[in-house]
Amino acid sequence: METTIQIKPLVFRCFFFSLFLSMLFLLFLCRQATTKPPTYVDTNTNTDLRIRPGYTSYEAYIQRQLNKTLNDKLRRIWTTRDWERKIQIFSIFFTELKHKNLLSNSSKSLSIGARVGQEVEALKRIGVSDSIGIDLVPYPPLVIHGDFHHQPFHNETFDFEFSNVFDHALYPDKFVGEIERTLKPGGVCVLHVALSRRSDKYSANDLYSVEPLKKLFRGSELLYVRTVDGFGLDTEVVFRKRVTLRS
Ligand SMILES: C[S@@+](CC[C@H](N)C(=O)[O-])C[C@H]1O[C@@H](n2cnc3c(N)ncnc32)[C@H](O)[C@@H]1O
Repeated sequence: METTIQIKPLVFRCFFFSLFLSMLFLLFLCRQATTKPPTYVDTNTNTDLRIRPGYTSYEAYIQRQLNKTLNDKLRRIWTTRDWERKIQIFSIFFTELKHKNLLSNSSKSLSIGARVGQEVEALKRIGVSDSIGIDLVPYPPLVIHGDFHHQPFHNETFDFEFSNVFDHALYPDKFVGEIERTLKPGGVCVLHVALSRRSDKYSANDLYSVEPLKKLFRGSELLYVRTVDGFGLDTEVVFRKRVTLRS
């Protein structure tokens, strides 16, 4: 009789505790279900490419990008402590592309979203002397002012374009459209993107697979996709602009 009296409160306690845990779990599920889903802007590229909500205007988007790029303290770090280290890593990537015959010393090359231009400097150091970068903030002589949604170049200007800032594009279709416009037929575009981890808080989109890129690069063929370790970006995607024969 005494044992039954002691066991009963224990059973009750266990019952209430599991009830409490179940309520917590239910609450968690409800919250998940009511969280606002990301905005899907470009329906042609399926849901593996999501534009981040919250940009009230194009000016607001540009201002957000500038907030980081113009930060004096960060610019000092990028041009001193980080300078040589990043050039070395970019040089390794570009040398590999040379070995694959996707880049040569005679390639006219563009780096998109090049900030202070380490990638441009790397290209020059490995012998690709006709190299320039564009960014919202110029860093002469390596980087000139230019918005990648409206590149300041004529059609069919470059043999090679590199970018590790696809995630900063508010209009991915324009970003890619401008690359295809300014590449020469047969020209090569190399993108470094993040697929398996989310990019930084200044990104304007999130990419979950290479499928949207394949759809966006309408006028190009996909050459290959490989895993890389490039400053937090994990995937190299390489396209070649098709040579269309005029009739
Ligand atoms: C993550 S940083 C990458 C910098 C550089 N590629 C590197 O690896 O050191 C992104 C850069 O994209 C630039 N950017 C963002 N939006 C841009 C736009 N619409 N047109 C041109 N550059 C842009 C930013 O100013 C910033 O310098």
